[in-house]
Amino acid sequence: MAKPDVLMTGPMQAVVAETLRRETNLHVLSDAPDRAAFLREVGPRIRGAAVSSGHGPFNKSLMDALPNLEIVANFGVGYDNVEVAEAAKRGIVVTNTPDVLNEEVADTAMGLLLAAVRQIPQADRYLRAGRWLDKPYPLTASLRGRKAGILGLGRIGKTIAQRLEAFGITVAYHGRSQQADVPYAYYPTLVGLAEAVDILVVITPGGAATHRIVNAEVLKALGPEGVLINVARGTVVDEPALIEALRSRTILTAGLDVFEHEPKVPQELIDMEHVVLLPHVGSATTHTRNAMGQLVADNIVNWLAGKGPLTPVAETPWKR
Ligand code: NAP
Ligand code: 8YV
Repeated sequence: MAKPDVLMTGPMQAVVAETLRRETNLHVLSDAPDRAAFLREVGPRIRGAAVSSGHGPFNKSLMDALPNLEIVANFGVGYDNVEVAEAAKRGIVVTNTPDVLNEEVADTAMGLLLAAVRQIPQADRYLRAGRWLDKPYPLTASLRGRKAGILGLGRIGKTIAQRLEAFGITVAYHGRSQQADVPYAYYPTLVGLAEAVDILVVITPGGAATHRIVNAEVLKALGPEGVLINVARGTVVDEPALIEALRSRTILTAGLDVFEHEPKVPQELIDMEHVVLLPHVGSATTHTRNAMGQLVADNIVNWLAGKGPLTPVAETPWKR
């Protein structure tokens, strides 16, 4: 029997292509010299797609070109790159990569927090520039006595909370609803949370519901000792308002892994010495990216074997 046709929209972790090449008839969209001609020819045969935010949006027009698509497996737990409502309308199951990256992203958040507050990259640059020979690096702000607010106490948010507690930092949170089984104080408004803490860790999904919810008012509430850590999506933070809050010292510093128009980063942020900027590397270790890649491939293989998806997203639930 012929193997089912599957599409990978661009390059991914080797384990994805290896597994899918073994189990399916794999096509790679980014390898096609003429994308439109390729989709015309192969599109109607495609039953599964492995996609990633780095390959551009997986939208209605791509779905139109894949009329027999059954499953979209996203490389990433966040799936704001997939038009999920459109997929749901067409009966296409969407999967993501939850849990396998919780610890990695939480580590990155803590790294950003320490780096921003203790000025670790700046101190490194100071030493390399030979400036230690003249005088010691200036004293920095501290994590001692701080309170952290988590915007989005989900899988990763809870993993970050455990780390913050181990550092002796009190944790509170905001989300759309209070959670019954967590030991942290709940704030029904984001401004209320920002007023109560001096570290705000952003780890919600992106998309319309969270678009720029960390705005000028929230940053003002965070205050002059405030630290903003964003490991969620750039769209969750009002970037111009953040730049202004950093410029005017309305907040102390920020550690950012994600940006509204990444990989483009505003020059104003690049020019600021008192922020720490990372190129969206929250989950970017070989270990964790392999685990994510395996889950992408396994979702498709499982589906094509008639065993259902492993990790469907809430908007496209699957019942056997
Ligand atoms: P999750 O378990 O679904 O948690 C998301 C949390 O956000 C939930 O606690 C949810 O609580 C809250 N939330 C959702 N919508 C909200 C809204 N409109 N306002 C306020 N809170 C809201 O997801 P996760 O696995 O922890 O991942 C979270 C996000 O992290 C991903 O979607 C992705 O965007 C980002 N991420 C980034 C990286 C990176 O490399 N930087 C890596 C992995 C993930 P309620 O339902 O109570 O509102
Ligand atoms: C990935 C992420 O780097 O899982 C997510 O939501 O943001 C990251 O782990 C990204 O999705 C890969 O493009």
